Amino acid sequence: MKMRMKAPALRAFAATLVAGALLVGVAGTGARAEGLNSEGYLIPQRQNWSFAGVFGHYDRAQLQRGFKVFHDVCSNCHAASHLTFRELSEPGGPEFTPAQVKALAATYKIQDGPNDSGDMFKRPGKPSDTWPWTFPNDEAAKSALGAVPPDMSLLAKARTVQYGFPYFLAEGLPFFEDEEQGPDYIYALIKEGYTNPPKGFKVPTGLYYNSVIQGSNHLIRMPSPLAMIFDNNGKPNNPKFYTDGTPVTPDQVARDVSAFLMWAAEPKLEERKRMGFNVLVFLGVFASLLYFVKKKIWAGVHDIPPAA
Ligand code: HEC
Repeated sequence: MKMRMKAPALRAFAATLVAGALLVGVAGTGARAEGLNSEGYLIPQRQNWSFAGVFGHYDRAQLQRGFKVFHDVCSNCHAASHLTFRELSEPGGPEFTPAQVKALAATYKIQDGPNDSGDMFKRPGKPSDTWPWTFPNDEAAKSALGAVPPDMSLLAKARTVQYGFPYFLAEGLPFFEDEEQGPDYIYALIKEGYTNPPKGFKVPTGLYYNSVIQGSNHLIRMPSPLAMIFDNNGKPNNPKFYTDGTPVTPDQVARDVSAFLMWAAEPKLEERKRMGFNVLVFLGVFASLLYFVKKKIWAGVHDIPPAA
């Protein structure tokens, strides 16, 4: 059966569509202006990262500070199972000296074995070891913390910003998507997420209110990591936390650790961007060469008379 709409019905239908789209647009813009998405979560704002864009590169000093935050705070709970000590001294990363990395690795006891008699044993870490985890397995972490903290090796790549309705319609578009959403999210989660719950919101024991974490009714099992470095007024417990003279503020610490986690998730970012740029230059040169070759080859072909 063919469905046909009479003209007035069609007009009404079209008008409803347009009105609906406008409403959604207005509501959406409003929500975004307030910084909340349609589900009431705080939308992480875009931050300025040194590693954004075609010429993006990591800020060595920032990665070194971010590593300190990871080392002193985050790695007490989170694993980073793909990160090797050696990478910390490789080009494109925090670039600690090999001697520093060797000394750092040696401060850890790594399980190795079996030895000749079949026993596992502990030995000091070596630069080629992967980052050891505080917990022997997921179950141990879960029983201590209530949830397994996600592995930090790829965390910055595993999280994005969710703008919610109606923006998800546009989220696939090139200008909406950007690679820095992972660090934007982590920065917002730890710096801005831990707010007071709205009146009447019951936070169960062992859980914390967070306005950024998605899809868990604003509840997270991680206590505020910044609260381990700062007091309630944002004053650092240890003003000399950073040894390079950078002021120790919640903003700085959140930014530095987010940058470090981006590097951990993509240690070869600088190489990739450099390569991408070189390929573009090559393609440009190659295209112009082809153009002149084509001109030369066809130069002798003139005025083919039309077939009689
Ligand atoms: C006391 C242990 C602990 C410390 C310290 C800790 N975390 Fe966590 N973290 C957790 C746990 C547990 C979860 C899982 C939370 C959940 O599933 O509710 C988590 C989850 C996360 C998540 C994922 C949130 C999501 O979207 O699912 C991020 C990002 C994160 N932590 C970042 C950090 C950073 C950065 C640091 C260091 C500055 C840090 N954490 C320090 C225990 C910790």
